[in-house]
Amino acid sequence: MTTAATALPLLSLRITAGPVELRGVTDDLLGPLAELATDIHDPEFMPFGFPWSLTPAAEMPLSLAQYHWGRRSAFSPAKWNADFAVFYAGELVGSQGFLSEDYLVKRGGETGSWLSRRFQGRGIGTAMRQVICAFLFDHLDARYITSSAFTDNPASLAVSRKVGYTDNGDEHFNRLGKHAVMHRVILKPANLVRYRHDLTVDGLPAFRGSIGLDAEPPARAGSQEERQELSRTGPGSTRSAAQPLLRKMRVPARS
Ligand SMILES: CC(C)(COP(=O)(O)OP(=O)(O)OC[C@H]1O[C@@H](n2cnc3c(N)ncnc32)[C@H](O)[C@@H]1OP(=O)(O)O)[C@@H](O)C(=O)NCCC(=O)NCCS
Repeated sequence: MTTAATALPLLSLRITAGPVELRGVTDDLLGPLAELATDIHDPEFMPFGFPWSLTPAAEMPLSLAQYHWGRRSAFSPAKWNADFAVFYAGELVGSQGFLSEDYLVKRGGETGSWLSRRFQGRGIGTAMRQVICAFLFDHLDARYITSSAFTDNPASLAVSRKVGYTDNGDEHFNRLGKHAVMHRVILKPANLVRYRHDLTVDGLPAFRGSIGLDAEPPARAGSQEERQELSRTGPGSTRSAAQPLLRKMRVPARS
């Protein structure tokens, strides 16, 4: 049956490791996630570069849904976000995301996450970051993963340190009218401190296809005409079955 997940395989991607489950954010999860998002931190403290978490509770369902719908509509191999709803022991607790641009070339991107306040400080933030990083390295061939946190966000910085990220410089921000320093960190595969449970991934082949991984090698793909063209121009030619994708990657996705 053709469904929304046929168009966007992210929606049926599911990563499980012990009590941790990351699920593509389907429409039925938007309302529950919006409820959790109304209580992430003290109003006096802003952990995010863009202060979306200050959205009034009554406006959060629409605002959060519009964010996810916007990311879905802009999804392309050149620029994609993988946002997941995080479940712990079967209960929805928050969100784990991964943002990438030119992934086929760079094989890297940035993680970001939040938990509703009542689920913080129990090791869940560390576990979900370990899970997404293992997924990216082991199943999506990532070379590196970056993250960042304001210097007054010890929980996020501690998670990065525990998972194996190392220092990668600072950035200066105007945070709600005041100067703030965002500390950047980077993780290489060899440094990942793994979660104690192995990963099970459902929906991987379709998702890899949707981000342009596993494109058939040029010599075996395409029509007879394309193969004849290839044999005329030789294997060094830039004309290949991957060409439409490369052409698309030069057009920046609108977001
Ligand atoms: C950041 C966040 C995802 C971390 O998840 P979490 O489940 O709370 O984190 P964990 O319990 O796995 O680990 C937190 C670590 O930070 C440490 N920590 C927390 N507060 C701390 C503080 N004030 N000083 C020093 N260390 C602190 C904890 O001790 C723990 O390390 P330990 O296990 O070695 O003791 C979560 O706190 C959160 O959602 N915060 C608000 C949103 C946010 O900041 N998102 C990230 C934006 S960059």
